[in-house]
Amino acid sequence: MNVPAEAPADCPLCPRLVTYREANKVSVPGGFNGAVASFGDPDARLCVVGLAPGRMGANRTGRPFTGDGAGWMLYETLLKTGFARGAYAARPDDGLELIDCMITNAVRCAPPGNKPETKEEANCRPFLASRLDALPRLKVIVTLGDVSRRNVLRALGLKASAGIPGHGSEFEAGPYTVLNSYHCSRLNTNTGRLTAEMFEAVFQRARTLIDAA
Ligand code: URA
Repeated sequence: MNVPAEAPADCPLCPRLVTYREANKVSVPGGFNGAVASFGDPDARLCVVGLAPGRMGANRTGRPFTGDGAGWMLYETLLKTGFARGAYAARPDDGLELIDCMITNAVRCAPPGNKPETKEEANCRPFLASRLDALPRLKVIVTLGDVSRRNVLRALGLKASAGIPGHGSEFEAGPYTVLNSYHCSRLNTNTGRLTAEMFEAVFQRARTLIDAA
């Protein structure tokens, strides 16, 4: 079966996430409240893979990493390393453009507590596999956190254990280089587990690899 790179906004595959979406239509009125599509350049050589839309972030605005704490560090870093142009203003109509970069999520619907279940990751993985496959010039994948890293490996037909965990790890996965970073969630940035310098170093490495290709 040919799976598209993007889930339909009203994707029915995960009953728990559909229930959460319906509840969010009441608690986040006027929000997007659906499976959030990837954002960026369809010819990108860099793909950034997050975890899942935040309830009050991407789930509300309809654009990955837009409107919650995680987005500020991600978009500021992409601007600094030349993978974005414009200014990030936490709104999908801020005019920000990604250059040579696509942002997607391992799971496309907001999960309760930001924690997708294993089954939900598996249900959504074909979309991730198609998303990566549909990028004809893809070279480097930045995985944000362990759920992202494991799902990317499995989407590429590899064992989840094939990669190297930990911030700053780098490994080959099929034709791609994977750079793993801690997730840029407020939980990690507020505690100092992930600093702006640590995060930027990952994207500088992506820049070096892409420029050398
Ligand atoms: N927003 C997203 O789109 N993905 C994440 O992983 C976190 C916030």
